[in-house]
This record gives sequence, C-alpha cells and structure tokens, in this order.
Amino acid sequence: MSLSDSQKRVQDLHQLINQLNHQYYVLDEPSVPDVEYDRLLRELQALEAEFPDLKTLDSPSQKVGGQALKSFSQVTHQVPMLSLDNVFSADEWKAFTKRVQDRLVSEKSIKFCAEPKLDGLAVSLRYENGLLVQAATRGDGAVGENITENVRTIKSIPLKLLGESYPDVLEVRGEVFMPKASFDDLNKKALKKGEKAFANPRNAAAGSLRQLDSKIAAKRNLAFYAYGVGYVEQASNITLGEEWLENSHYQRLCQLKALGIPMCPEVKLLADSTEVDGFYQHILQERDNLSYEIDGTVFKVDDIALQQKLGFVARAPRWATAYKFPAQEETTQLLDVDFQVGRTGAITPVARLNPIFVGGVTVSNATLHNQDEIDRLGIKINDFVTIRRAGDVIPQIVSVQLQKRPENACDILFPTSCPVCDSGVVKAEGEAVLRCTGGLFCGAQRKEAIKHFSSRKALDIDGLGDKLVEQLVDENLVKTPADLFKLTELDVSTMERMGKKSADNLINGLTKAKTTTLPKFIYALGIREVGETTAANLANYFLNFSAIKAADEILLQKVPDVGAIVAKNIIQFFQQEHNIEVVTELEAIMSWPDIELKSADEQPFKDKTFVITGTLSQMGRNEAKAELQALGAKVSGSVSVKTHFLVAGEKAGSKLTKAQDLGVEILNEDELIALLAKHK
Ligand code: IVH
Repeated sequence: MSLSDSQKRVQDLHQLINQLNHQYYVLDEPSVPDVEYDRLLRELQALEAEFPDLKTLDSPSQKVGGQALKSFSQVTHQVPMLSLDNVFSADEWKAFTKRVQDRLVSEKSIKFCAEPKLDGLAVSLRYENGLLVQAATRGDGAVGENITENVRTIKSIPLKLLGESYPDVLEVRGEVFMPKASFDDLNKKALKKGEKAFANPRNAAAGSLRQLDSKIAAKRNLAFYAYGVGYVEQASNITLGEEWLENSHYQRLCQLKALGIPMCPEVKLLADSTEVDGFYQHILQERDNLSYEIDGTVFKVDDIALQQKLGFVARAPRWATAYKFPAQEETTQLLDVDFQVGRTGAITPVARLNPIFVGGVTVSNATLHNQDEIDRLGIKINDFVTIRRAGDVIPQIVSVQLQKRPENACDILFPTSCPVCDSGVVKAEGEAVLRCTGGLFCGAQRKEAIKHFSSRKALDIDGLGDKLVEQLVDENLVKTPADLFKLTELDVSTMERMGKKSADNLINGLTKAKTTTLPKFIYALGIREVGETTAANLANYFLNFSAIKAADEILLQKVPDVGAIVAKNIIQFFQQEHNIEVVTELEAIMSWPDIELKSADEQPFKDKTFVITGTLSQMGRNEAKAELQALGAKVSGSVSVKTHFLVAGEKAGSKLTKAQDLGVEILNEDELIALLAKHK
C-alpha cells in the first residue's frame, strides 16, 4: 500500500475503532464480535509499524502503554477538585435536605441527580480541541499528579472526543476504578506467581495508576465513569454558543456521554428528595450485582444555578453529599479461637470476636479456615483485626493490625485430639486441613452428616432443621441417617420442646423424603467432594445405584468432573463397614427411579458447557442445572473461554460482564426455557 492509501486507511481505522469503542464502552451495545475488533486494531498497529509517521497521539492503538517515566510531574488544577461530605442515615439525610431547603426558600421542589458512589480514584481528564492532553489525580484537591500516560491506556476513556461540538478546553471529572472481575483475575494471577494480592479493587486501581511504566497499567483493565466537569473554556469566535454546557448536572453527564465519555448507567434524575430513599435502597440491593465496587450513593442538587447559589464550605460543596452504606470493614478484637468439627472431620478454627457492627449486621464469629490461613494472617489471640462483611458473604478477617498488638497476644494452638470425641487428629499430605479420625463415631461428624442428608439440596426433609438434628443426636434417638426413618411419632413427641404439630410435620416430612431421585440420594450420602454436580454426573453415567457402588477407580474417572481424588473418595466411602450398613438400610427404606438411558441424539448438549448466573425466577437454578445435565450439558461455576452458553437470570453480575467480554452466547431465562422445551 502506498503512503497516501495507508494514510486514508489509518484515518478510516481510527474512526471505525473509535466508533466500536464508543458502542462497547459507552453505549454498552457492542456491534461486532471481539475478534473483529481485534483484527481492526491489529491492522492499524501493522500500518503504524510500517509507517511510523502515521502513528499519532490520538490513535486508538495508543492504549498499550509507552515509555516508563522516572516520576510523575505535578498538575495544578485550574478548578479545584473537591471532596464530598457524608451522611450515614435517613436522619442525617433529612438534615442535609433541610440545610439545602433553608438556603433555597423560594424553591418548591428541588431535583437531585442520584449516582452510585464509585470506589476508585478521582481523576481529572483534560481535553483540548477534542484531544486528551492530560490526566491528573486529585492529590490534595489543588495539586495532583500527572498520570496521563497511564490514563491513556484505559480502554473506555476516549483519546479523542466524538463528534465536532465541544468546548476548546473541557475538563472531565470522574472516577477510575477496577471492575470486580478484573480485580479477581489480577489477584488470582498475583497469587499464582507468589506475589501479594491487593486488598480491594480500590487499592488495585490506585496501585495501577501509580505505575511509572504505563505498559503495566495497560494490562490492568481499569475503567472510568464521569461524574462532573471541571474547567471549561470556549474561544468566543466559535459557533458553539456561549452556553455549551447544560444547566442541569444530569444533562451535563449526558452531554459528556454523547462525546464518548462513559456515564454510570445507574445514574438517575430524581424529581425531589422524597425519591432519595428509594434510590439508596435500590442501589444497596443491587450492590452485589454491579460489576464494580461502590460504597454508597451520591445526591447532587441538579440545577447548576442552584448549585452556584449554595456554594461550598471548606472543601466540599453544599449542594451534594454522599449517602454512604454501612461500612463493610471494621476493627475488632480476636477474643479466642474455638475448633469446630465438620461433616468430613475437618477441624476448623473459628474466631470469637468482640461483637462488631459491620456490613449491616453484628458479627461475633468468623472462620479462620486452617493453619495456612492463620500463618498467612500472622494472627494471635487478642490481636486487633480488620473484619470485612460484604453483601451476603460470610465475614472474613482481612488483616491483623500489628501496630495495635497487645502485650497479652498469644499463639493459636491447634488441638492434638478431636475437641468433640477425643479421637486422634491427622493432617493428610499436601492438605492444609486437620481432620478428626473418629469418623461417624464422632458426635460432631454424625450431626453434620445427618444435617447434610436432610438439607435442602439433598433430601430436603420438611420439619427437620439443624437444631432438631442436634437434639436428636444428643438424645441418642438418631445415630445415622437411616435411623431418621425409624423414628416414631411417640419418640418425637416425647422430646423436649417438641409439640404435636412439629412432631407430625417431621414424621410427614420423613415419609415424603423416602421417595427421591438418584442424584439427590447420591448427593445426600455426603461423600467427600461429591457435590450436586458430581452426584448428577454419576447418576447420568451409571444410571443406577448398584453400578456406582460396583465401579472401580478407572471407570469412575470416566464420569465428567471425577478425577483421581474424587474417585478414591467414592471407593473409600463404599468400603467402610459403617457406610455399607447405613447404605444397605437406606436402600431398603427408600426408593428412587433409575435414570433412563439417553441415546446420543437425546443428549443435544453433549460437550457443551453452560454457566448459570443471577436469579432464575421461574425454574430455580438447581432445576435448570439438572435439566441441562439430563440433556448432556456440563454445568460449570465459572465463565471461561470454554463456556458455550451463559444463562443470565435477574441481577446477573460479573459473570455476565465476563461472558460478554469473551463473546459467550447469553441466554435469558425465557430463552433457556424455550431451549429446554425444544429438546424435551
Ligand atoms: S462528586 C464536587 N460523584 O468520592 C463533588 N464523587 O468523597 C466532587 N466519588 O473525590 C465529587 N463517586 O473520588 C462525586 N458519583 C460521584 C462519586 C464521587 C465516587 C468519589 C470521588 C471524590 C470522593 C469524595
């Protein structure tokens, strides 16, 4: 290609790629598959390599990082970057609106722009004549650091504004953040390489922007949402008109969006302050489903003229406030460590904490997992620790605050015999977990085995909760899962705190549970590492229970998901005297149909991998999974290049984003139901 042809092609490619970036990052509507985008980008890179003069600063190829810097230079903000005040409760919010209303007495109803409070870093982007010329951190609000090279690598930040109509100088203010999925990937990779993981996406984003080598930042997958404008300059002789900027904060964000600058899709214009609580609750509820971390909401008086009337106090505007969610991290003291024995004998250290309100609940226990985790944290009894409780996730101890270590801090010692049955304890080679060797002689393991047997995904025995199982075992009425079915109405009704109605419920529940399915029965046995999916795979492969019992290790490993360890666990389970007895008893009491042999054409999804995410309101995830498996599909828990379909229910979060990134086919619940119906 001649230079002039190449020049034309490079220009076309710029336009095309910028357009695709806009569709992907701003409109959230990718119009071509990722491979096609990659092809265009590679074509551009090849032309730029051949004709270096064609490589301009605003080329969309410039998102891969350049020369490393020695240090960051300083940037003085032409308009200071302010902070926000916080409110933490409905009462504090009311006080905020009252202050606003008192200053704006003549305004009857004040519109608010409602935004999530993104948990990243404030950045100011400076566009001159439509080109990104500078990006700076907030710093102390007056002077920040010049991080242009790193920011240029952020894929969703345009190097050139879209269209023709923008001010000569436009400073965009917003938050750079790391999406949850990118954060998880980054930490997984770091741990694999033996490097330290980042504590949270915010730190990871900050660490990435602080890299002097922008090639590193380029690999970090950061993102950006705008939340305002800073300095704006308009040369008087241009036709844009005096007032390019709208007089509404919300409209301004929309204006930026039209120029190709990403706007958070959750942002909403509220008619007045009575809508604030609804927005706050809605975002709080959606929090776990969002693909990025937030720590609250932000409400801003929408009318710019009113904002100007209200002005600022110190470093924060009077016209805006953050309405924060309850903190997800708190400090408390580790009072003691207890050791719990689980279903498989695993002895788990449980931290007893000085009760602390975190993530909206009071937390007094947290698991410490195993010795490795204790070593990793370097934790001692009486230490002050940081506790994190995010969403419905169980509380975790994130770190020890070494600077506060008290004098009476002492080591956590693991027991040398089972704390429940006093049997010996062992640690298998290569395992971090200490186990009780007592098997089902151990009261704790017995209780857990029976709880598992009756749990929802297993036999789902109505009327039999965990507390009742403990009572039944403690009162020696039940020693094995099979004993449950031998309980009489009389046995049950003579138990303490047991009314006639509860006794009836339990007996009815037990009668109903006698009829089940083969996958549920296998799962209910509680064989180590045989979860729901493996149980279903075993059932679908062997079709009846006798064949599973008789299978050897080699045959077992032919089943999808079953490797050497799981095969060994299954063999060992069926060799144990006690298990043989219980299983034989159960076979006599219970019944389930064998699985009907499916011919190859009845397994239309053979070799296809599905992932299910979000809430399925019509059929439930377990049911969907079972039906897909019955048609030969593999149902996996995580999205990867090997995923063929993602079933995305309501509130699908990071898995959906990842699937979209990988170009995985996505089905909603209705589409899944239609697909299943087609093959029934
Ligand atoms: S507005 C004049 N809006 O919170 C007001 N800030 O605590 C300037 N932040 O430094 C800030 N989400 O880094 C604004 N939707 C949002 C935000 C937001 C996150 C951050 C920002 C700011 C800090 C103040």
